[in-house]
Amino acid sequence: MSDPRTAEFSDLLREDRTFPPPDSFRANAHVRDERIYAEAERDPEAFWAQFASELEWSTPWTQVLDWRPPHAKWFVGGTLNASVNCVDRHARSHRRNKAAIIWEGEPGDRRTLTYWDLYREVQQFANVLKKLGVSRGDRVALYLPLIPELAIAMLACARIGAVHSVVFGGFSSESLRDRINDAQAKLLVTADGGYRRGQIVPLKQMADEALQDTPSIRNVIIVQRGDRSMPVHVQEGRDHWYHRLMQDASPVCAPEAMDAEDMLYILYTSGTTGKPKGIVHTTGGYLTGTYATTKLVFDMKDEDVYWCTADIGWVTGHSYVVYGPLANGATVLMYEGAPDWPQKDRFWSMIEKYGVTIFYTAPTAIRAFMRWGVDWPAKHDLSTLRLIGSVGEPINPEAWVWYYRYIGGERCPVVDTWWQTETGAIMISPLPGITTTRPGSASRPFPGIKAEIKNERGETVPSGGGLLAITRPWPAMLRGIYGDPERYVRQYWNRWGHDVYVTGDGAKLDADGNFWLLGRVDDVLNVAGHRIGTMEVESALVDHPSVAEAAVVGKPHEIKGQAIAAFVTLKEGIFGTKAHVDELREHVARKIGAIAKPDDIIFTADLPKTRSGKIMRRLLRDIAEGKAIGDTTTLADASVMAKLKTQYENET
Ligand code: WTA
Repeated sequence: MSDPRTAEFSDLLREDRTFPPPDSFRANAHVRDERIYAEAERDPEAFWAQFASELEWSTPWTQVLDWRPPHAKWFVGGTLNASVNCVDRHARSHRRNKAAIIWEGEPGDRRTLTYWDLYREVQQFANVLKKLGVSRGDRVALYLPLIPELAIAMLACARIGAVHSVVFGGFSSESLRDRINDAQAKLLVTADGGYRRGQIVPLKQMADEALQDTPSIRNVIIVQRGDRSMPVHVQEGRDHWYHRLMQDASPVCAPEAMDAEDMLYILYTSGTTGKPKGIVHTTGGYLTGTYATTKLVFDMKDEDVYWCTADIGWVTGHSYVVYGPLANGATVLMYEGAPDWPQKDRFWSMIEKYGVTIFYTAPTAIRAFMRWGVDWPAKHDLSTLRLIGSVGEPINPEAWVWYYRYIGGERCPVVDTWWQTETGAIMISPLPGITTTRPGSASRPFPGIKAEIKNERGETVPSGGGLLAITRPWPAMLRGIYGDPERYVRQYWNRWGHDVYVTGDGAKLDADGNFWLLGRVDDVLNVAGHRIGTMEVESALVDHPSVAEAAVVGKPHEIKGQAIAAFVTLKEGIFGTKAHVDELREHVARKIGAIAKPDDIIFTADLPKTRSGKIMRRLLRDIAEGKAIGDTTTLADASVMAKLKTQYENET
């Protein structure tokens, strides 16, 4: 890293360096006793049931788990409502006037909603949805910036038993359209715009493009967020302003009692095919999992000010901006915009301003902060922080130690949390009051979770490297892929038997039982903590009229973790120019979203293929990673590789 002070790390970075929890932290932590692991192991169902019983149920469950691999039902027979658990029970308690959401917009505007405010707005919006014909089981698409209305809309859906499908505001019109159509959403909530680095992202305009081809949508609700002078198309009869509808809506809306296994939401995520999968989460188990992990991993207390910087459009935002913290009655800070706007200390100034005590962000952000230098955080008083967390990709030890020292002031436990959209909640993580952490390791499976390392044959490897598998059901686990039950089995539960969940990640286990995550082993990339399928990017590229064939691989990137490199063959007679590279990058942004733009596009006459015509991505990865080229004996034409390597080195 460019910061000269990095040299100071050498003492902290020694291989054997470990970080026991500070005594002062341990003394007050929710978990102070190692025995929690053994207890959960002795009876995992009882362990989870104890957390479930801390939630509010309308009808108690009769059976904790019904496991018919690979299909699980948790808290069978129980009924509850997620919005009641996240809002009502706090609004009716001593937390009535406690801040539930402290929100800051990128331009610096602010809004605070107490639990009582949230209670009223959620019910009002639930009534708005009902009035527009949304009822139990209907799907509602949410395409919004990070504003309180997004959380309100999610909770309002939950209140009436509608299923939300949040689509990240950075996704393109086409991505929005495909997700709306796959879920057959009946209603869309969007905004006129949202702020990003001083610009307004014209969300409604993008939604309008999607709406040309989404026959299931009957109504659109527009939140006014952007600059009022911005022209917004309002289609008579279909489009309605949020604030107008809310004016007439009653703040009393009785919650639906939902079965524990009723769908709470769908969230699309990238996999190994060109088409994102709609991951299905249900009510009782998901809420139990996010509630329990928020409480224990973040050691959540009533006086905390908690900030998870993720966008709500990703699972981290669902579980750890909305459901987990609100189920705990926490004060949640939300920030709409970019970390470097207007300056590179925006996060640190917000931590100082709001007295944030728990901070949760991604390694890609931490690496950017390192690059920007310690002077930015040093300008601010970060002494309120008592715990800091990381999620989304493997954290390199240098970034871990930098985070620990310059943000955590060497006083805050660091929780590196491994999990996935599919797992719903944190699966591998330290427990901050008891775990001695090692930079770069996510430590141990959360109590009650059983994770193992498998070799290709499915044998459990007691220590060393292999494939990470989860070998026992857990409450927040996905219940399916929306509309594709067969793919659920094939994708996740078919490699080593129906009771072994295949994560797609590689990991190694050390002699002390710590897991070290090594990244994806499938065709899924992790670019700046965002999941992107190589096939999706390839499909977007070949969709361009000039492209004959495309192969996409990941390459290491100092800040983003991985960047996208694309090898493209053009159709006969088309010549790849610099302008053409830009055009293809824009094309990918239009098809998927700016996050999927390749860093490098290499035009090539040939791609390395086996004699049977399969593109050998492994070899392309070697080129993109600048490694010696691996075994080429199966190639139809081995000379392709030498040419490509030279070309790649010259062009990038
Ligand atoms: C990666 C994000 C290492 C991993 C919550 C996983 C991590 C994918 C970590 C899921 C971590 C997430 N250490 N790798 N602490 N957290 N990952 O679905 O490859 O967006 O499979 O969920 O991110 O990404 P997703």
